Amino acid sequence: MSRVVCPGSFDPITNGHLDIIERASSLFDEVVIAVLVNQTKSSLFTVEERIEMIKEVTAKYKNVRVDSWSGLLVDFCKSNQINTIVKGLRAVSDFDYELQMSQVNLQLQGVETLFMATAPSHSFLSSSLVKEIASHGGDVSAYMPAAIVSKLKSRVASKKS
Ligand code: PNS
Repeated sequence: MSRVVCPGSFDPITNGHLDIIERASSLFDEVVIAVLVNQTKSSLFTVEERIEMIKEVTAKYKNVRVDSWSGLLVDFCKSNQINTIVKGLRAVSDFDYELQMSQVNLQLQGVETLFMATAPSHSFLSSSLVKEIASHGGDVSAYMPAAIVSKLKSRVASKKS
């Protein structure tokens, strides 16, 4: 059985993430979405909130499950019998960092990384960008499912009040 992990902060999940998850789910037997605690970033949503949101918008993919991890991604892979990471590459600007991560993960535990080219329509999309747009009252409905848009709007509003 081919099992892969799609890791990320998912703070919150966007259509860019969903594009990669959907395409990975058609290529592999099982896709595990791992919400990782990224110590270099402060988050808008708790890990539990992010998991709930991801579950809601990926429920239609029967071979996708959601989990979380605090620590090295390769240790998550080891404890879940996963030897392949799938990541989206948006642009050249992603490449240096992603290459470095993939080489570290290969050296640490022999975990392979497969890069999937992001659909051109999502090549500029990131959770950070979407949060910035929402924080200034901009329309983010093109960038994420409606269920996530409403949660993002209310979280941004509650942060301001
Ligand atoms: O969505 P993001 O924030 O770009 O995802 C980055 C993430 C969480 C996948 C990456 O930071 C990560 O793998 N963190 C776990 C810690 C780790 O294994 N780091 C690599 C070796 S130092």
